[in-house]
Amino acid sequence: MKVIDVISATPELLKSPFSGSIMKRAIDREIVNINFHDLKDYSKNKKKQIDDYQYGGGSGMVLMIEPIDNCISHLKKSNNYDEIIFMTPDAKKLTQKISNQLSIKGNLIILCGHYKGVDQRVRDNLITMELSIGDYVLSGGELPAAVLCDSIIRLIPGVLNDETSALEDSFQDGIIAPPVYTRPSTYKDLNVPDVLLSGNIEKISNWREKKSEEKTKIIKP
Ligand code: ADE
Repeated sequence: MKVIDVISATPELLKSPFSGSIMKRAIDREIVNINFHDLKDYSKNKKKQIDDYQYGGGSGMVLMIEPIDNCISHLKKSNNYDEIIFMTPDAKKLTQKISNQLSIKGNLIILCGHYKGVDQRVRDNLITMELSIGDYVLSGGELPAAVLCDSIIRLIPGVLNDETSALEDSFQDGIIAPPVYTRPSTYKDLNVPDVLLSGNIEKISNWREKKSEEKTKIIKP
């Protein structure tokens, strides 16, 4: 079973994305074991301090190396990890290719950034990979960590019921998936394209291919 340990200063932010749908199913089926770790539990400081002002001056608090190092060292006593990933906006962007690669790796640690950032010594010495989910700044790395977990977990065999459906996702082969429709075939004056109702498998397949190409050209020219 793949273990994903998520380290955060606000682990309560992480719970809900894992308590329904595909990620819950993966946990219930014991395909993944996801654990949240509160950085405050690894502070040796009486006040459970995990951040401090930055040297040289400047606004914003910086996560300290000690609780992070304590937490990672503690986790490493029970498991080996293939990657220790730091979620931060100033990193290379997550892509489907990276999610595919991470889905076939072993255990992972994901460290969520917070406040102004994290002591650079963490990034230089404890982390093996840094990922951003896009060019915008969120208040912390918790939502990005949940995004990363979702994109990885749905790819693990046995998680999705229909094994082919992850392979047919948009981006999986660089091609955007075609539009989909369901009942009713007419809603107010809006109709489902006739071809999808025709029962002609070859025509439907050609139509889907054409629509995929059109969408891909517009979104990823
Ligand atoms: N933390 C804050 N913003 C982020 C982003 N865009 N990606 C990853 N981690 C982040």
